[in-house]
Amino acid sequence: MTTATQAYGETWYWDNRYSNEPGPFDWYQKYQNLAPIINHYVPRNHRILVVGCGNSAFSEGMVDDGYQDVVNIDISSVVVESMQNKYQDRSDLKYMKMDVRDMSAFETESFGAIVDKGTLDSILCGGDSRQNATQMLKEVWRVLKDKGVYILVTYGAPSHRLRLLRESSSWEIKLHVIEKLGPDESHDDPIWELTKPVPLNDDGSSVEEALGKNPDVHYIYICTKDIL
Ligand SMILES: C[S@@+](CC[C@H](N)C(=O)[O-])C[C@H]1O[C@@H](n2cnc3c(N)ncnc32)[C@H](O)[C@@H]1O
Repeated sequence: MTTATQAYGETWYWDNRYSNEPGPFDWYQKYQNLAPIINHYVPRNHRILVVGCGNSAFSEGMVDDGYQDVVNIDISSVVVESMQNKYQDRSDLKYMKMDVRDMSAFETESFGAIVDKGTLDSILCGGDSRQNATQMLKEVWRVLKDKGVYILVTYGAPSHRLRLLRESSSWEIKLHVIEKLGPDESHDDPIWELTKPVPLNDDGSSVEEALGKNPDVHYIYICTKDIL
């Protein structure tokens, strides 16, 4: 039997969910909360790819904030068709049905930044998770330009994500954190300043020293492609 979280790696699950819940819905964080970190790492004239976009308003937030070319992909044809209809008049927002594990429709080194909010997490929930995640990260590396950034927003602490990232490619990795928030909550006194990287040593134990054990945060890994 497939459990609910295992199904996050399956196309039928997302088609079903998007047929019943048209959204918009943003997992983890909305654009407005993450804008300072996106602005910090991604120049507005870069071509951006959002992988596993779902029906989130994140990309709309980006173009409203001055980003000019945001390409979105998702494995669910249901959500892609609905987003294509919703944004048919916005030439700066494109939606395509595509599996992030096979982005052969995109040329090598064609994006300056890739945003992933919850998609690697979903793939890690499904069957063959390790193999699927490795295939995804290989494709993410390929379509990024040299010095481009893969921005991974996840619930996964360094003890669960660092090795996977490091084993996939020779990323240069910085870590940021943001408090988990309810839909209309904001924090005046954050646990850690959003745009200041958290100290990151080889095994990630420095993060616990800085933030304490099991902090109530989402992790933002800034992975820079550095072809030496
Ligand atoms: C947790 S949701 C996140 C949606 C959106 N990024 C957000 O932040 O609200 C994960 C998304 O990844 C998509 N997805 C899952 N596996 C995928 C794959 N192999 N290729 C592309 N998209 C995938 C799902 O259809 C779903 O929309």
